[in-house]
Amino acid sequence: MPETRLSPDYRDLFTGMEVQAPLLDGSWKPYINLDNAASTPAMKSVREAVNTMLEVYSSVHRGSGFKSRVSTYAFEQSRRVIMKFVGADESEHVGIFGKNTTEACNKLARRFPFTSEKDTVLISSMEHHSNDLPWRAVANVVFIGMTPDGRLDEADFDTKLERYKNRLALVSVSGASNVTGYINPIYRLAEKTHAAGALIAVDCAQLAPHRAIHMGRLSDPAHLDFIMMSAHKMYAPYGTGILIGRKDIFNRGDPDLRGGGEVEIVTREEVHWSAAPDRDEAGSPNVLGAVAMAAAVQALEAIGMNQVAAHEAELTCRMLTGLNRIGGIEIYGSADPSTAANRLGVIPFNISGMSHYLTSAILAFEFGIGVRNGCFCAHPYLLDLMQVDPQVVRQVREQILSGDRSQVPGMVRISFGLFNTAEDVDACTEGIRSIKAGNYRGVYRQNLASGQYSPEGWKFDFSRYSPLKPI
Ligand SMILES: Cc1ncc(COP(=O)(O)O)c(C=O)c1O
Repeated sequence: MPETRLSPDYRDLFTGMEVQAPLLDGSWKPYINLDNAASTPAMKSVREAVNTMLEVYSSVHRGSGFKSRVSTYAFEQSRRVIMKFVGADESEHVGIFGKNTTEACNKLARRFPFTSEKDTVLISSMEHHSNDLPWRAVANVVFIGMTPDGRLDEADFDTKLERYKNRLALVSVSGASNVTGYINPIYRLAEKTHAAGALIAVDCAQLAPHRAIHMGRLSDPAHLDFIMMSAHKMYAPYGTGILIGRKDIFNRGDPDLRGGGEVEIVTREEVHWSAAPDRDEAGSPNVLGAVAMAAAVQALEAIGMNQVAAHEAELTCRMLTGLNRIGGIEIYGSADPSTAANRLGVIPFNISGMSHYLTSAILAFEFGIGVRNGCFCAHPYLLDLMQVDPQVVRQVREQILSGDRSQVPGMVRISFGLFNTAEDVDACTEGIRSIKAGNYRGVYRQNLASGQYSPEGWKFDFSRYSPLKPI
């Protein structure tokens, strides 16, 4: 393992870095969070922004009082900050706040102007369910094939673009995979998509915290028509996401949710919808969430997305080098440390012959390391990457439907955030090495219904961590 310490260390910018995790042997260890593709901890500047806003928030857009005006200003400023971060043009794009990427994808699916002639959506084979299932409900979905190593197959994309050209309304792909960390060539795909007369949406849930995004002017053939992202993956808390997309489209049609705050005038007979973005923001908005997301964006901008990418590439390179040295570790997607700069720090693996459920349980209970295991809401992609036999898929499906998740195929996923350090990487590598060598003390039992393992005799009172009074 190289001895050099990664520099700079960004831990000081984050909240919750001192939290200790209880281990099976009764000791405590600083918690190592390697599950950032799921959710990230908040930055301290985000906490400060939220605390400031808590003092002054009030009814956004509706009140005439001082606090209402402050809230409205901060809410609209948040929208502009986030749009600028992704290179959206306010004259052509509009930012619509919502709950998260899932809600943004669903809104786009419900609001997209499909017609009986243009009814087809091309999506990749690596999509998170959030950028797959909403399209299945409203369009004819065609999957772009994948290469043997799990990347988007651009030759197949070209073929499908040509084949479905007359029916194609939209291409919707992830900017980066939450399973393999592969980054898709979104600007090249955008150019080809526009040349074929369709629009492109990019699920930026994973890309946004790790790489600069440039939506561009609509006159640029490589522009992005729509993007979706979530605050809780970019160092702000849950509850806020944004759909940024073409103003011309969101200024048309009925909103998908109906209620207050999105109309010009309502009589008993008719409704006049407001212009975008109000038309698509029914109900009282989450001003604190918007401010939190914008504060995280400003912190990322201050660091610089190139610095963010460089730091995470160092971590990824070190982790892949360590895993390769252990031997007997199956890494999915690319295992090549030299390509770390061209992917995200998301590394899926399995210890040969060991359940993904068990590996992640031991990492948590004996090493204080939080990773994720399972199928990461991308079942079709996982089954392809693992080359699971269709017969096995059928058997597992029957087991799941009968309440037994113990045999569900899956992987363990390490995913880095900006606060992670070389020490975190080395601790994880050593943990995996020990587990592989059988050096763990617990006797683990699997719960068939959940598939999860826990060690015999382990008890912990979580109520001491809850800020709420006992009930
Ligand atoms: C690529 C990708 N898209 C969409 C989502 C859904 O994000 P959210 O749960 O914030 O809606 C995720 C979450 O893991 C993701 O990784």
